[in-house]
Amino acid sequence: PLPAPYRVPLPIPAVARPTGTLGGADLYEITQRTADVEIIPGLRTTIWGYDGTFPGPTFETWSGRPVVVRHTNRLPVPTVVHLHGGHTPSDSDGWPLDLVLPVGDTSNWAHVHNGVPMVGNTIAGTREHHYPMSQRAATLWYHDHRMDFTAPNVYRGLAGMHLVRDDVEDALGLPAGDHELPLFVCDRAFAADGSFDYPSLDRTLRTVPGVEDRYMSGVLGDVVLVNGAPWPVHEVDGTRYRLRIVNGSNARRYSFALRVPGGPDLPFTQVGSDGGLLAAPVRQTALDAAPGERFDVVVDFAAVPVGTEVTMVNTLGTGSTADVVRFHVVRAARDDSRVPARLADDVAPLVPGPVVREFAFGRGAVGDTRGWTINGHAFDPNSSLADIPLGQVETWRFRSDVHHPVHVHLDPFQVLARDGKPPRPTDVGWKDTVDVLPAEIVDVAVRFTDLAGRYVFHCHNLEHEDMAMMATIRTV
Ligand code: C2O
Ligand code: CU
Repeated sequence: PLPAPYRVPLPIPAVARPTGTLGGADLYEITQRTADVEIIPGLRTTIWGYDGTFPGPTFETWSGRPVVVRHTNRLPVPTVVHLHGGHTPSDSDGWPLDLVLPVGDTSNWAHVHNGVPMVGNTIAGTREHHYPMSQRAATLWYHDHRMDFTAPNVYRGLAGMHLVRDDVEDALGLPAGDHELPLFVCDRAFAADGSFDYPSLDRTLRTVPGVEDRYMSGVLGDVVLVNGAPWPVHEVDGTRYRLRIVNGSNARRYSFALRVPGGPDLPFTQVGSDGGLLAAPVRQTALDAAPGERFDVVVDFAAVPVGTEVTMVNTLGTGSTADVVRFHVVRAARDDSRVPARLADDVAPLVPGPVVREFAFGRGAVGDTRGWTINGHAFDPNSSLADIPLGQVETWRFRSDVHHPVHVHLDPFQVLARDGKPPRPTDVGWKDTVDVLPAEIVDVAVRFTDLAGRYVFHCHNLEHEDMAMMATIRTV
């Protein structure tokens, strides 16, 4: 039986602290390891976590201040770390074959795929990721990106948040401190003994990738976790709060709304999207969030009487997945925060040049089995699907068969149109993941700025990604 919702307090992940400096950068050291934790009350769950926590520690870094994160792998399988939304040099970006082998593991993990050797920069035990943080303030997250096994690795807990801050955002006076809450939302299924119930073909995650055939469309759980706790509850003041929402689910899409008993829903004032602040706040009654997307919103709990329970629900869910998190307004308090009418000056619309590239996301052959492809191709790390000149604004046209949340590494884009019509309200601002609906054509304006190298773009339904819906691009 599932636990009753809104009993467990909302956990706030620890904030990562630098352990020193390295070449002028702040050095952080993270150990990837297993831990036994209580997620479902009364049961133990073995997680794979950054520093043994799920979600991992939250990074809070400053724009323009470089960071090195030294990851040590004490898990039983290779791992790869990607900073999602990071403007990161190629060799630190988490190329799916840049494996970090478990400490002390000498087995041969060379990856052979459909008979073709796939070579990456495999390293033993520890890798240093160099992040220049030359990007605006934004809600990023980091997670595993291991070739063919991203979905089960993330499912076991390898994900965390990374907030980039800067002077522009700092000067706005948005709610801060205890009134700023990270909300990492993901769904999981649990076996009766408390373990994560993920339908891998090979539960050791060592050799055979993929999931049972009936999970082709993605793995959904019946428990919604926020910051790793099932349907938690949080006591809030009757003031504004800033919520940093990440959809870290493998395959679940949500539409979030704030229910008030006996009253109209509370609105979200959206101040930022994947790539940081919007030009101006946008009032949203619902937030449609596909896997990988982030929403930075302000909610004003002063709009309801003290004592009110405001519930963030998922209107796309049924039964247990319609519940998400509850805020219990317990006291009136003074509020010095504000949401200025103007937020940022660097969100001018991109004007695309003549280049239009089409990418069709659909089912297809992956070797001699079935999987997911882009323009009919299964992921090929050895050849680039497109070489993109730096500095050029292009139109990329994504076509879908079913839902595909498309994510591009390295630099954010802007959504231009859906089926030739204006994008939806939640497509606003700098995005790096766009929810492409079934049989839809989404046009985005893409521009890579200054880092040349090899990157990927892919579907962020992690089962689709593992089943080859990923492509290599080179920025040149
Ligand atoms: Cu969040 Cu390539 O992924
Ligand atoms: Cu997909």
